[in-house]
Amino acid sequence: MKRKIIIDCDPGIDDSLAIMLALSCEEIEVLGITITCGNAPAEMGFANAKKILKHMNRLDVPIYIGARKPLKKPYVSALDTHGPDGLGGSFLDEVTGYEQSLNAVAFLSQTLRSQRCSLIAIGPLTNIAQLIQTDPTAFQNIEMLVSMGGNYRSHGNCSPVAEYNYWEDPEAAAFVYAEMAKMGKQIHMVGLDVTRQIVLTPDLLSYMEQLNPQQGAFVRKITRFYYDFHWQWEHLIGCIINDPLAVAYFLRPQLCDGFASYVQIETESISRGQSVIDAYDFYRQKANAFILTKVDVKGFFMLFFQNLLHKTKAELSLLEHLISSKSERSKE
Ligand code: BDR
Ligand code: CA
Repeated sequence: MKRKIIIDCDPGIDDSLAIMLALSCEEIEVLGITITCGNAPAEMGFANAKKILKHMNRLDVPIYIGARKPLKKPYVSALDTHGPDGLGGSFLDEVTGYEQSLNAVAFLSQTLRSQRCSLIAIGPLTNIAQLIQTDPTAFQNIEMLVSMGGNYRSHGNCSPVAEYNYWEDPEAAAFVYAEMAKMGKQIHMVGLDVTRQIVLTPDLLSYMEQLNPQQGAFVRKITRFYYDFHWQWEHLIGCIINDPLAVAYFLRPQLCDGFASYVQIETESISRGQSVIDAYDFYRQKANAFILTKVDVKGFFMLFFQNLLHKTKAELSLLEHLISSKSERSKE
């Protein structure tokens, strides 16, 4: 039986790759996509999700718009990272004639009340916080909550200490972690410690194009801007694709290692958005999160390419040589 998920996202270049991965996996059924403001304003995120569904020939999957601003802080986009259209300046044709009447929170609550499913949140946690505020019972039904966000030993990516998704709406992130603690549940935190290891290098991109020219060309088109950004800001030849790891981890938890801990999110001042991970148990609190610290990078790309490019393991034998053994299992 397929495992059911809802993807809550802010597409976004790497969000788009995550959606593409999820839609390519036979083991997963995507019940819907909910949009929060984040990388792109909500309406733009909605337009981008439609473009991705069209590319994947999956316009049957419903998309619902959610939060247009964070809970308390003013909205700050990440279009400097994701391009003026949120999809790397690809300016793909708009998809018309596809509207949804429900909002994201109503869809989440309706769906979670009628069936068990998991939530893969790869944007700021605003929609999830609003779901808990409006329908805590529905939220309780979530099978697994995977959140791309936060960081443990790795530095931040939009302040010295904070990762973008939690920085963007720290009140939402703080609230969701606090509620999970009250419910005795754990968020699976796919933070920068592991996602930073997932670098789509120019070699890997060329390999994608050779294996599946249509998919490869599409990925090149939407990531070009991202490559330039990473060079300018991180002096990295390649781009970090954070969000697909959240989907891959959901599918194959054995790709990652980590530990359970109590986590709080700071909301103010220079620590805004910092994930404070009580790894040494100062607070004597029950763990409300499972923090990923290690990832099998080759294993990730094997899964990503097998599904996205429709190739068998045997057909991907070159992958072995395109990823350095150093990055095979990232250091803690
Ligand atoms: C996260 O922020 C966004 O830029 C990406 O889409 C990802 O979800 C990484 O910090
Ligand atoms: Ca995202």
